[in-house]
This record gives sequence, C-alpha cells and structure tokens, in this order.
Amino acid sequence: MSAAVITLKTQENGSDNLMIQRPTAGLSLQGRILVPGDKSISHRALMLGAIAEGETEIQGLLLGEDPRSTAHCFRALGAEISELNTELVRVKGIGLGNFQEPLDVLNAGNSGTTIRLMLGLLASHPGRFFTVTGDDSLRSRPMSRVVKPLQQMAAEIWGRKDNNLAPLAIQGQALKPIHYHSPIASAQVKSCILLAGLNTDGKTTVTEPALSRDHSERMLRAFGAELSIDPETNSVTVTGNAKLYGQKVVVPGDISSAAFWLVAASIVPGSELVVENVGVNPTRTGILEALSMMGADIEMENQREVAGEPVADLRVRSSQLKSCTIAGDIIPRLIDEIPILAVAATFAEGTTIIRDAAELRVKESDRITVMAQQLNKMGGKITELPDGMEITGGTALVGAEVDSHTDHRIGMSLAIAALNASGTTTIHRAEAAAISYPNFTSTLTEVCR
Ligand code: S3P
Repeated sequence: MSAAVITLKTQENGSDNLMIQRPTAGLSLQGRILVPGDKSISHRALMLGAIAEGETEIQGLLLGEDPRSTAHCFRALGAEISELNTELVRVKGIGLGNFQEPLDVLNAGNSGTTIRLMLGLLASHPGRFFTVTGDDSLRSRPMSRVVKPLQQMAAEIWGRKDNNLAPLAIQGQALKPIHYHSPIASAQVKSCILLAGLNTDGKTTVTEPALSRDHSERMLRAFGAELSIDPETNSVTVTGNAKLYGQKVVVPGDISSAAFWLVAASIVPGSELVVENVGVNPTRTGILEALSMMGADIEMENQREVAGEPVADLRVRSSQLKSCTIAGDIIPRLIDEIPILAVAATFAEGTTIIRDAAELRVKESDRITVMAQQLNKMGGKITELPDGMEITGGTALVGAEVDSHTDHRIGMSLAIAALNASGTTTIHRAEAAAISYPNFTSTLTEVCR
C-alpha cells in the first residue's frame, strides 16, 4: 500500500492550494470515519432554538462557516448562543416574534439557507427594520423565490434587480397566511414560508412540485408547532400563533459530506470505508439510489433513529461503476451531490445523463458550468446541458491546475477526482471546503493508505 501525497499551502493572498499527488500504484482508501454534522439540520437547530421559549441543547453541530453565519445573525437578533462546538451548544431562545432590531446589517456570508430562512422570520416582525446581505456569491443568488411569496403575505422587502438580489431591506409587518404553490422543489423556499407562517393568524400551506428535504417539518413538530403534511400533494400546513419550546437536538453526520467518501471508495480500486453516523432521511438519500443504479457496493448498517432523524453507518467497497440517467423527482433528493456524482460518472462505463437540475446554476456557483470546465481540464468529457450534464465515462484523468470557484462542493469533488488522476492536481481556493466540511483535508489524508 502507498499513500497519496496531500499538501495544503496557504498563498500570500490567504487562499489555499490543495495539492494531491497520486502514487503510481497501490493507493486504496481504508478506515472508519465520521463526517461533520448535517448542515441543514445545524442551521435549523440554531434558528428554532433562537425563536423558541426556553433552552435548546444541540449536540453534533456542524462547525462550518455556514452555521457560524447563522449563529452570528441570530445573536444579533437577541438569542443567546453559547460558543460553537460539537459537544454541546446551548441556545437561550427569545420566543417567537421577539427579535430585537439589530444595529447593523445581518451578514449571512455564503449561506443561502441562512438568508432565505431568516427572511421569513424577519418579515413577520411588525414595526422592526432589518437589512441583510452576504458574500459575493450570495449577493448574486436569486432571492425573489422567497421575496415574492412573502410579499403575497404582505411583507415589505426591497433589494437590487427588482427585489431579487441582496443586500435586502425588510420592514417587518403583520403577515397574513397563504397557500403557496411553489414552482420549484426547494426546502429553502418551503421553510422560509412555513417560518413566516408561524407568526400569522391562520394556517399557511406550501405545496411543492416534488418533495424537498423535510428537516424543517420534523424539527418544527419536535419544537411544538402544529403541522400537517399531505404526501399525496407534497403539501405542508403550519398553524400560526405558534409557540415553540426549546428541545434537545442531536445532529447526525451530513450525507452530503459522506457522499465524497462514498464516491472516493467506489472509484479507487481495493478501497473499503465505513462512514459512521450518517443521516439517512429519505428526502436526502437520492445519492444512495443513484450510486446503487451505477452499481456501487454500499451497505447500510446499524440503522437507528436519533432525535427524530434516521441514521446509519454506510460501508462502501470499490466497484466498477456503470452509467445511468438521473432526472425527475430524485433531483431534489440529491441536488447537492451532483458535483461528486459527475466525478463518479467520469469513472463509470458509458454515458451518464443528468437532467431537470437547472437549480444547479444558482447554487454557490453555477455548478453545471464550473464542474464541466474544471473536470474537463483534467481530461473529463462533460458536456453542459441547460438543466444538467452529459458525462462520457471511462475517462483516464490527468492531474491539472483547477479551481473551486469558492464553491465548497466543487473544491471537494475535484479533490476526490484527483485521487484517480495520474500525476499531481492542484486545487486553488480549496479553503472553500470550510463552509460545510472544515476537516476535509485531514480526513482525506487519514483514509489514503
Ligand atoms: C438546503 C436546501 C437546498 C440545498 C442547500 C440546503 C436547506 O437548497 O441545496 O444546500 O438546508 O434547506 P434549495 O432549497 O435551494 O434547493
């Protein structure tokens, strides 16, 4: 066995170059690893803790940049949140509708979940004024998907480009309940409207075209909100004038982070990894279904339920992957895993088609264009489609200079591709991984034997 050489170098401008040199022979990935806490659940635990009465205790919080942005914003709104760590974070809630008016702009950093969910809460605080912004990436991402339905509820929100882009200004109002038919399957849109509905005088319903992740629904119920779900129509209804009570939340490992290891061990011959304590909520397991269609060897062990979320250990052994078509209702259940699936498809036999995923164009980067450009620099054969990609598999990749475009999932996907590329790959702006996976490089070094 021989290890890959993995070196992280900080540049003069403060950004990191991650260099990965694959040995000419004998690399395999082995071990039992843990991945950091689920990002979606971490955000929601901090937010619901902040608007609940009493104390919330969070175990296993993700210490990534995104949840840090959420904690920062909700502290400015009046919640007492202890220092962030994975063991135990305490949130002293202030009760629904009790935000203080912050003296400065609320900065959501790179986090779409922070800004969009928070907007629903801010808009429903009558008499208070808020301003919100984010980093370069977030300020270019569409906000009208939440601004428009909030305006239907009587919200007052202003921003650039017809109220579509942050910075946004919000004059809180007494909102009215609505039934919103969302044109996109988006958990951020759904959650924003449900959170706004908590502080209205009636029932608010969101119907979506396909089911998106349901962590808000699960956690709102656990905190005491009255919620009804119609699975036939993908509709959720929340009852207003809600009272939420602090809870104990245990955050499972993030399946979106586990996905890098599932693909890495699948494509590097002779590998066997166990990723322990991974959240396997059915609204998130599209990646397991897609990899299984591709012939991956993944077993779910030790299945259990922890604090209202299903959890399992995932054992993965290397196997020859084959192509497949990924489209339709599965897309929202694996939307964040498409960059790493593109890497898997590069090493699969045949041509993989990904469709119905135009949402990728408005993530932390345009993940269709960026993934195609960067992987093609290494010899990949990816053709962009308006709503996805066509990936010709069976390609031998060659090490190259590539760039994360400050998108965490792009940077980490390229690092996994580098494990199966000849020579040396340098990933520029690799520090982006810290958004969702701060110790990605150390786990990478640990599993490469
Ligand atoms: C998230 C929802 C998804 C996902 C994002 C996290 C959430 O976004 O891509 O990483 O926590 O609600 P959309 O709601 O825009 O699909």
